[in-house]
Amino acid sequence: MDGPSGTGKSTVARGLARTLGAGYLDTGAMYRVVTLAVLRAGVDPADGAAVLRVAEAVDLGIGTDPAESEVRLDGEAVDGEIRGREVTGAVSAVSAVAGVRELLVALQRRIISQSRATLGGIVVEGRDIGTVVAPDAPLKVYLTASADARAARRADQDAAEGRESTVDTTRADVERRDHFDSTRTVSPLRPAVDAVEVDTTDLDIDGVLEQLLAIVRERGLVGSAEVGRVEP
Ligand code: DC
Repeated sequence: MDGPSGTGKSTVARGLARTLGAGYLDTGAMYRVVTLAVLRAGVDPADGAAVLRVAEAVDLGIGTDPAESEVRLDGEAVDGEIRGREVTGAVSAVSAVAGVRELLVALQRRIISQSRATLGGIVVEGRDIGTVVAPDAPLKVYLTASADARAARRADQDAAEGRESTVDTTRADVERRDHFDSTRTVSPLRPAVDAVEVDTTDLDIDGVLEQLLAIVRERGLVGSAEVGRVEP
């Protein structure tokens, strides 16, 4: 599942994984952990070579349980810190470093293989999942939403998690980051040619989930009994 920020990607991906009894992987959190390590090391996020050295040495832990977020740096839980302003401001630069992407894509593919072997499947969210990480995925989803809707959702999320922001500053931040992510040379944000595109501007989470579950059933990716097994 790919798409820009504020499209409801995380909530939808998590909900889909729970409903299907699959694993869940937040690849954005992985880029954020590397970014936190870069900032803690006092390295300039624009210095690609130094950023890569930090990434090569990073001790990153990431869980795949959709019911519980688990993100660690050197064994320390950093779920909150990676969503803060400092990391959010630097993550685009870090995720544009080709060597960092190579390292994380390799790790993502290992996690996907493990989840497929143990759980039968995994819902993976990010920017390049359908195009680069898992081009053979049986279902690729690309979520979009208007810039206003995305900024409003991000501002609500910040408020709910106790971070100060306004819709205006959030909108500027969302647009800056999306522009950077879509125009970078390495793995830019874009839909895979065979992705199902869903515009979430006027849909609530249940509406998006319903559409996606219908496609999952249609493609025979899971039996209908299994789809109904776990409530989102
Ligand atoms: O989904 P998010 O906002 O937590 O992602 C944080 C940043 O990481 C975002 O600016 C884009 C980048 N990212 C990426 O380049 N590739 C991914 N697969 C996931 C995220």
